[in-house]
Amino acid sequence: DEAELDARITAAKATLGERVVVLGHFYQREEVVRHADYVGDSFQLANAAKARTDAEAIVFCGVHFMAETADLLSGPDQAVILPNLAAGCSMADMASIDEVEQAWEELADVYGDLDTPDAEGLLPVIPVTYMNSSAAIKGFVGRHHGIVCTSSNARTVLEWAFERGRRVLFFPDQHLGRNTAKAMGVPLEQMPMWNPRKPLGGNDDATLEDARVILWHGFCSVHRRFSVSQIDKARAEHPGVRVIVHPECPMEVVDAADEAGSTDYIRKAIEAATEPTTFAIGTEVNLVQRLAAEHPQHEIFCLDPVVCPCSTMYRIHPGYLAWVLESLVAGEVVNRITVPADVADPARVALERMLAAKP
Ligand code: 13P
Ligand code: SF4
Repeated sequence: DEAELDARITAAKATLGERVVVLGHFYQREEVVRHADYVGDSFQLANAAKARTDAEAIVFCGVHFMAETADLLSGPDQAVILPNLAAGCSMADMASIDEVEQAWEELADVYGDLDTPDAEGLLPVIPVTYMNSSAAIKGFVGRHHGIVCTSSNARTVLEWAFERGRRVLFFPDQHLGRNTAKAMGVPLEQMPMWNPRKPLGGNDDATLEDARVILWHGFCSVHRRFSVSQIDKARAEHPGVRVIVHPECPMEVVDAADEAGSTDYIRKAIEAATEPTTFAIGTEVNLVQRLAAEHPQHEIFCLDPVVCPCSTMYRIHPGYLAWVLESLVAGEVVNRITVPADVADPARVALERMLAAKP
C-alpha cells in the first residue's frame, strides 16, 4: 500500500545517500514528488542533471525524452534511470527522425543546400526542436546548425535562430511554435504547417518562400483539450479570475487567457501574487492540484473540469521508484537510459547551444 511504498522509498534513499539524486517533473504525482531532491520544469531538470555529477545515479521521475536529456548532460559514468520505461510522451513520438530527415530533403529542393549560408551569412532554414523530442531528433538538429528549446525559453531560442537563418523549421509542437512566433510578431501567413503526408507543394498552400516559421503537425494531447469556452465559463463564474495557460495550448486558448507560460512560469506567477487571487490554470492537473494545496490563500483550479493528467507522466508509480532504488541498494542498475555516442555528440551540441543562449 501507499504508506509501505513510501517507507521503502525513504529507506532506500537513506541507504544510498549522496550516491543517488532523484529528479521529479512538476507533473509527477504527489507520492513521487515528495521524494524528489529537485522538482522543476524540463529546463530546470536538465540543468539539475548537469549540476549533479557527484551522484552515481540519477533517477528521473518524468518521461523518456527528459531522461535521455539527463543522460546527455550528465557525466559519462553516471547512470540515468527511468523508473518505468513505458513513460514516453505522445507529442515527442509525433516527430520521427525519418520524417524529419524526409522533410529536410524536401525543403532542400525548395531552398537549395540547407547547410550553406547565403551572401549575408544566413542559412535558409534553422531546425529548432522542442525539448519534447527524441535524442535522435536533437542529434539531427545539432548536425544542422540548429538548437533545442523548452517552453520557458522558446522566444530566446527563436531569436537566436533568426540571427542565423532566414526561417525556422519548428518541431514537434505546432502550438508552442505558433504561439511563440505570434508573440514575436510573425504573421500567421508566414507560419505554414509542414505535412509529411502531402507531397511537396501540397503543404497547406504554403508560400514556402515567405515562410518564417515552418510548423510541424505535433501537439500535446493533454494541452489541446483546453478550450476558449472553458475560459469563458471561468470568467463568468469567477469575476476577476486570472487565467494562465501553458503555451502548448492552442492559439485561441492562449489568446483568450491573461498569460501563457511554462510550468515554472505558472508556479512563479502564483507565488508572486500578494493578494488572495482566483487562478484558472490550463496545464496538467497534478501540478495544478499541488499548487492549490501549497497556496491555500488563493483559489486555484484547473480549467478542464474532466480531470486531465498526463497519462504517461502518471506511469511513474511509486512502486517503480521503490524498485529502481532498492535495486541500486542491491548493486544493480535497472532501466538505464543510454543515448548512443553517434547521436549523443551532436545532440549535446544542440542542447549546449540552448543552455548558452541568453535573452
Ligand atoms: P515544461 O517545459 O513547462 O516543464 O513542460 C514540459 C511538458 O512536457 C509540458 O507538457
Ligand atoms: Fe508530453 Fe503532453 Fe505529457 Fe508533456 S503533458 S509529457 S507534452 S504528453
